[in-house]
Amino acid sequence: AYPTRVKLVDVGPRDGLQNEKQPVPAAVKIELVHRLQDAGLKEIEVTSFVSPKWVPQMADNAEVMAGIRRQPGVRYSVLVPNMKGFEAALASKPDEIVVFGAASEAFSQRNINCSIAESMERFAPVVAAARANGIYVRGAISVAVGCPYQGEVSPAGVELVARLMKEIGVQHCGVADTIGVGTPRKVQAAMEAALKHYALDDISGHFHDTYGMALVNTAACLEMGIWQYDASVAGLGGCPYAKGATGNVATEDVVYMLHGMGIATGIDLDKLIDAGKYISDFLDRKPNSRAATAILNK
Ligand code: HMG
Ligand code: MG
Repeated sequence: AYPTRVKLVDVGPRDGLQNEKQPVPAAVKIELVHRLQDAGLKEIEVTSFVSPKWVPQMADNAEVMAGIRRQPGVRYSVLVPNMKGFEAALASKPDEIVVFGAASEAFSQRNINCSIAESMERFAPVVAAARANGIYVRGAISVAVGCPYQGEVSPAGVELVARLMKEIGVQHCGVADTIGVGTPRKVQAAMEAALKHYALDDISGHFHDTYGMALVNTAACLEMGIWQYDASVAGLGGCPYAKGATGNVATEDVVYMLHGMGIATGIDLDKLIDAGKYISDFLDRKPNSRAATAILNK
């Protein structure tokens, strides 16, 4: 049955902006976070504590975290690849961290410079330290339905990483279609693989929209009862280590679909569109959201 309520995590400030070539000042990122929370987002992925040599756009992570006016009831999450990143992240007091692994060896090597097994060895002390500090730990499984370097990824690959993450104490499993190649049945199969190790309430979908499949894949997961999704305001983004991949599904489009289905999100679509317009104007482009475009042109 469809859920009656969905929780959306806006990953725009992180996934959305990590790949931007032009510098985006910390003040703009902070303003974007403020606009997202004013629109009713209850969780925002703010930045990542990764190597600035690998992802220069996120080098201002501490400054952005320090600049946010925190709103009660809103959770702020950050990506962390290793202990060095965790120690830096801890000082900025995130509510959640995200460790990110991959369902293919090739993508693991390109994105975090280690094998899947090595990634788990790196994550284990991060997860333990986070939980000891009362910080919730999400895990992301990249390339869950297709890899730019390896091609097809089987549900067994997803199941393996889900199991390894569960074993080291990762509390939540995000299933990610990094390059947006998934179609509904494939995405459902990836979710079923994750469900072997994680409860329905501890699983989310993270869909890039490269092939225009993200909304239909979201609908396919809603049918399974999955009620948590990542999305990116104005459809911003892409992973620098997944060539050709476009942004996440636009949060505006997901909200439009959910509200049309009678599913509550707590998000004010007009304010969300304003947030998307704000960052798109800064980047000097149109919001990559069909719903926002339609509503702005009315
Ligand atoms: P490495 O080069 O193997 O790391 O990178 P290392 O441990 O050998 O260290 C090399 C240098 O990096 C050292 O500095 C370290 O101090 C430094 P040096 O001595 O040369 O001056 N370093 C760090 N600096 C700051 N913060 C850190 C850190 N760690 C080491 N945390 C590493 C390994 C994981 C660090 C690197 O590969 C990396 O940063 N990768 C991140 C790539 C990334 O951010 N990708 C995008 C996010 S994932 C994504 O978008 C997918 C997702 O959206 C889901 C989906 O769609 O699939 C989540
Ligand atoms: Mg992503």
